[in-house]
Amino acid sequence: KSVEQGVFQWSTPSNIALVKYWGKKENQVPANPSVSFTLNNCKTITQLAFAKRQNTNSNFSFDLLFEGKPKEDFKPKIQKFLERIESYLPFLKDYHFTIDTQNTFPHSSGIASSASGMAALAMNLMSLEKELNPAMTEDYFYQKASFLARLGSGSACRSVQGQVVVWGKQANIPGSSDFFGVEFPHTIHDNFKNYQDTILLVDKGEKQVSSTLGHDLMHNHPFAERRFAQAHENLDQLIAIFESGNVEQFIAVVESEALTLHAMMMTSMPYFILMKPNTLEIINRIWQFRNETKIPVCFTLDAGANVHVLYPNHVKEKVLQFIQDELVGYCQNGQYICDEIGIGSQLI
Ligand code: PMV
Repeated sequence: KSVEQGVFQWSTPSNIALVKYWGKKENQVPANPSVSFTLNNCKTITQLAFAKRQNTNSNFSFDLLFEGKPKEDFKPKIQKFLERIESYLPFLKDYHFTIDTQNTFPHSSGIASSASGMAALAMNLMSLEKELNPAMTEDYFYQKASFLARLGSGSACRSVQGQVVVWGKQANIPGSSDFFGVEFPHTIHDNFKNYQDTILLVDKGEKQVSSTLGHDLMHNHPFAERRFAQAHENLDQLIAIFESGNVEQFIAVVESEALTLHAMMMTSMPYFILMKPNTLEIINRIWQFRNETKIPVCFTLDAGANVHVLYPNHVKEKVLQFIQDELVGYCQNGQYICDEIGIGSQLI
């Protein structure tokens, strides 16, 4: 089918890993499986306008806008992404693209936009492929979107579809793959419905360590093999925990995963400390609050200083009060973002 021109727009969420992806092989194949909650409010909204080119040559043709304004410094990343996915989308050079993207979260908030951003672009490109091949099934559409997103940024493949998403081959997760994310196929207890994630912005600066460099540091890392095995074990544990609804066990796995991610960075060569003093203050306050109140609130971390505070929906009011009273003071300019589990990408 010939398609001359058109426009699509996708809204694609970020995600927060519970079992962390840290370390990869060739072609963005993860060294261990990971699982994440899809977020609901932290999103990238990307519009893709496309027009058939008169004269195609060997280069990609695209303009990039961020919040409506040209953004030259993002272009090399997109160029590289297009090069990586060209063999899977052979029509890419037939079109001129205008990519207009914006995030719902403040830029330089220390929230990585690569997952939502790369996934949003992948969704749009799949919409174009679907125009060209209308017979494609929905399953194929989402699976290939996740496959392409992975080639942009590994964790992006977990931002396509589903509330809880697994990426990476795991024996007792049917359909799981190193090449794309899949919706968690087992039972999820009501205790995890509408789980909340309040993101405390401790340090909004540039990332100290790019994730590319970070993943590389797992090559020849003294604890790599044990860590990769542990990720499989923790994912197995989470399967049982999601089914039983045991939030105490959930907390133990999730907090251990976050600290292990940072431990890997502290024990690589070169080594990094990505937490800030306020990150530790917050962790200690959370532990104290949990001990005193028995409210099941816990934390997880990305490859940075911000803290994701995770808790069940039914304790929301009490936890938000605690955050207001005791944690906001540790956030840069008192900033935090309230989010919760979401369902994945949406065509607007
Ligand atoms: O997708 P990348 O290459 O930016 O790696 C993300 C790694 C972590 O956010 C630290 C963990 C994860 O699983 O999302």
